[in-house]
Amino acid sequence: MKLDRLLARHQHMGRSAAHRVLAQGRVSVDGTVTRDSHYEVSRFASVVLDGIELQHGTRLIYLMLHKPVGWLSATKDAQHPTVTDLIDDPDKESLHLAGRLDRSTSGLVLLTNDGRWSKRVMDAEHRVPKVYRVQTQEPIRVEDVEAFARGFHFHTEDIITLPAKLEIIGEREALLTLHEGRYHQVKRMFHRVQNRVIALHRESVGDLSLGDLAPGQWRALTTAEVAGFAATGCD
Ligand code: URA
Repeated sequence: MKLDRLLARHQHMGRSAAHRVLAQGRVSVDGTVTRDSHYEVSRFASVVLDGIELQHGTRLIYLMLHKPVGWLSATKDAQHPTVTDLIDDPDKESLHLAGRLDRSTSGLVLLTNDGRWSKRVMDAEHRVPKVYRVQTQEPIRVEDVEAFARGFHFHTEDIITLPAKLEIIGEREALLTLHEGRYHQVKRMFHRVQNRVIALHRESVGDLSLGDLAPGQWRALTTAEVAGFAATGCD
């Protein structure tokens, strides 16, 4: 919302009165005096007029969590435990997931209350690589590498999957790098080469990997880690 509208709404003043108050240097946003009436104020910003806080900025939160098998990638569920049950933060109700994993999948999930950031992480156009460790029922064939790189036609969405890198590391084990996140994507891709995923674990998202976070543990991202996604983005 523009700063003059926010003042007008909170102080029941007209827009021209709001402009006067701004011109007098009586308003600060996140501690800085701001005179620009068109300044776009996010809900995360603190806005103060004459020393009185009109808007208490919401704290921005960015977390990574090691999702254990059996936990839902959701914030609430009546039947199953969800990943937010694992988080101990007074503002955890504001969080959403930047990309989900199936209940049977383990690994790295990101949670935030910053919708623009999670969009950058998830949008295929930003090409954020996600690496999965996959175990399969049948042996993985060398020719599957080419098939994953070519892409598969998904009938439901009528799309061709983006080129994916399949690296075979064992007879029935591979690392798969995707740059998008479609519903059950890894399982559907292996199904297309007549195989079945029996265990799936997400090792990394962009430059972030779990390190020594044990299943069920979480930690806040550093400022540099949060900014890393802005750098890979194209907006
Ligand atoms: N692809 C899948 O099939 N499942 C996941 O949880 C993630 C990617």
